[in-house]
Amino acid sequence: MKILVIGNMGYVGPGTISQLRATYPDSELIGFDIGYFANRLTNTEFLPEVKLNNQIIGDVRHFPSEILKGVDAVVYLAAISNDPMGAKYEDVTLEVNYRSCIRIANLAREAGVKSFTFASSCSMYGAADQYAKKETDTLNPLTAYARSKVFAEKELEPLATDTFTVTCLRFATACGMSNRLRLDLVLNDFVAGAVVSKEINILSDGTPWRPLINVLDMARAIEWAISREQSNGGKFLAVNAGSNRWNYQVKELAEAVGQIVPGCKVTVNQDAPPDKRSYKVNFDLFEKLAPNHQPIHDLHSTIKELYRSLSEIGLKDPKFRESKYMRLKVLAGLQENGFLSYNLSWAW
Ligand SMILES: NC(=O)c1ccc[n+]([C@@H]2O[C@H](COP(=O)([O-])OP(=O)(O)OC[C@H]3O[C@@H](n4cnc5c(N)ncnc54)[C@H](O)[C@@H]3O)[C@@H](O)[C@H]2O)c1
Repeated sequence: MKILVIGNMGYVGPGTISQLRATYPDSELIGFDIGYFANRLTNTEFLPEVKLNNQIIGDVRHFPSEILKGVDAVVYLAAISNDPMGAKYEDVTLEVNYRSCIRIANLAREAGVKSFTFASSCSMYGAADQYAKKETDTLNPLTAYARSKVFAEKELEPLATDTFTVTCLRFATACGMSNRLRLDLVLNDFVAGAVVSKEINILSDGTPWRPLINVLDMARAIEWAISREQSNGGKFLAVNAGSNRWNYQVKELAEAVGQIVPGCKVTVNQDAPPDKRSYKVNFDLFEKLAPNHQPIHDLHSTIKELYRSLSEIGLKDPKFRESKYMRLKVLAGLQENGFLSYNLSWAW
C-alpha cells in the first residue's frame, strides 16, 4: 500500500503518520507539505517525519502529478486551518482548502488512486438550532474557512466512481497533544490558560455548543477512511467524525479544566456578544459505519495529558495567544519578516 498524506506537517499530521505506520508497517508512506510549521515542534525527541519513507516539501497550488504514481490512497489535510486565518487570507484559503484539493483529486483519479480522504469540518453547520446536526441537514457556513470545506465537498462528490472512493470526514473541533501543538483551539487554549496563570478566560458568554475530538482519534478515523469499502457508506461519503458524548458547551469545557487544574479560576466574559458559531452534532452515522474506529479518548484524560505536557514543556508565557502555538501568528510573522509573500508562497 502506498499512501500520500498532503498537509502532514501540522497539528493533525504527526498522529496520523504514527497511526498509519502502526497499522500498515510495510506501507510506503509519503508526506507532502509546504512546511509553514515544520519547526514548531512540541514534546518530541525526534522529527515525526522519520516514520515516512519520503517527505516532499511543496505547495498544493503547484502540485506535480508524478507524485501520484503508484499511490493507492490520498489523505488531504492541507489547509489554512481556522476562521481567523481564513478571514485574513481569504483567497489563499479558497485556493488551498478547496481549488487545489479538487485539482489534486482529479489528478489522483486519473492516476488510478483508489481512495481519497478529505479533512472536512463540522464548522460547516455554523449556527445551528438546539438539536444535533446530521449529515443531511442544511449547511450554514459562516466563514471563509467553513465555505472552503463546503465547496470542496460539493465538487468532490461527482468525482467519486466505482474505483475511486471519496470520504469527507467532517471533524469536530480538535483538541489534545500533538508533536506540532496548536493553542488556537478552544480546549487547548483553556488548558494553556490554566497552566500559565491559573485562569481560564472564556471569550464568549460560554453558552455556544462545540463538539470536540481528540487529535489522535482523528488519526484513527482517517485510518478507517482510507480503507473504507464502498459497500460501507457508498462511493462518496460525507460523515460527521466525532462522538455524541463529546458535544459540550464552552463553559462546560472550562469547568472541566477548572476541576482538573488545582486552584484554577474560570472567568466568563459576560459582556461578550453571543458567539454565532454554535452547533451540536449527531455522530450516529459514524458510529454505525466505523464501529471499530470510534473515539477512545475522553475529555478528562485529554485535559490531564495536555496539562502534563504543557507543564513539562514549561509553558509560562501569559501571552501564549501571541505565540508560536497560534497558526495565524506564525504565518503573519513569516510574512512580516519577508519569508512569505502576500499569497503565502515562500518568498525566494
Ligand atoms: N484542528 C482542528 O480542529 C480541525 C477540525 C476540523 C478539521 N480540521 C482539518 O484538518 C486538517 C488538518 O488540520 P491541522 O489542525 O493539522 O491544521 P494545521 O494548520 O496545523 O496544518 C495544516 C497543514 O497544511 C499545510 N499547508 C497549508 N498550505 C499548504 C500549501 N499551500 N501546500 C502544502 N501544504 C500546505 C501547512 O503547512 C500545515 O502543515 C485541515 O484540513 C483542517 O481544516 C482540523
